[in-house]
Amino acid sequence: MQSYSLFAPAKINLHLEIIGDRPDGYHELVMVMQSVALGDVIDIRANGKEEIRVFCQNPQVPLDNTNLAYKAVQLMQKNYPTQASNFGGVDIHIEKNIPVCAGLAGGSTNAAAVLVGINLLWGLGLTQPELRDLATYLGSDVPFCIAGGSAIATGRGEQIEPLPHLDNIWVILAKYSNISVSTPWAYKTYREEFHDLYIQDSHGVSQRTHAVHSGELVRAIAHKDSKQIGKLLYNDLQKSVLPEYPEVKNLIDQFKSQNVLGAMMSGSGPTVFALCKNQEQANQIKNTISKEINDPNLEMWVTKMCSHGIITTQHK
Ligand code: C5P
Repeated sequence: MQSYSLFAPAKINLHLEIIGDRPDGYHELVMVMQSVALGDVIDIRANGKEEIRVFCQNPQVPLDNTNLAYKAVQLMQKNYPTQASNFGGVDIHIEKNIPVCAGLAGGSTNAAAVLVGINLLWGLGLTQPELRDLATYLGSDVPFCIAGGSAIATGRGEQIEPLPHLDNIWVILAKYSNISVSTPWAYKTYREEFHDLYIQDSHGVSQRTHAVHSGELVRAIAHKDSKQIGKLLYNDLQKSVLPEYPEVKNLIDQFKSQNVLGAMMSGSGPTVFALCKNQEQANQIKNTISKEINDPNLEMWVTKMCSHGIITTQHK
């Protein structure tokens, strides 16, 4: 039986702006997304049975059809029934390195890896845009995770335009293992508080989107100007999440006091990321923060921005 191993990187948001409501109940967003080198390894193979089986060493990861990776297989089976019946069920092994429920798209990147893996396993020959279209059925962050790198995401988050690659900036990720934030809650709370500021007309929406496309952050990315990138970080969801989670706000403040390039919450949190100019600085700041906060629940990782999404690492 053939098998593929895929590397599935996490993402952070360098910019997350909520523009308004959408008729489908989601929010109209404009985001700048960035892959980081911390990632999961997904092994996918035909199992010669009828069923889909998910295996993962992390007890926080569900193994049933609530797992996005499982749903990704179901989606492919539904869309490609002939190949699905020829090849039978699949086993998916997830080596979980990305913290779970963290605002780092861990589940989304696993689902993206399954789409890429099944495309190879079943010899479907789907292109990246075709895989991205399928990914929209699984979640707003899944389309970005396919090609990853640096990109602007608009609409629900599913419309992706690549930006010049960034890979020279080091990133500290920090998360309290005892805090988790519900993404629907974060958006709902934001809506309750800021609905009056929502842009209602489509012209206004495209103006906001355009402002980011031609704005300072995108220019800084094009020039690989890490100092500017650090200064321009922006996340609307901090307005709903930080008042409820003062520890997360304190973590951001602690990083900022350490002379990092910039620090912010990723997505709906609770993970905080801090941008650093090199690996040495990142390790040093990680140790300082760890000593200062001195909480056994605080977990940290040092990683780097990376210029790719899902990649195949092994084919047997
Ligand atoms: O698409 P995904 O399942 O990742 O979204 C999770 C939740 O985040 C949605 O159920 C919704 O509450 C919120 N969301 C939103 N607008 C978006 C993306 C997500 O309101 N564009």
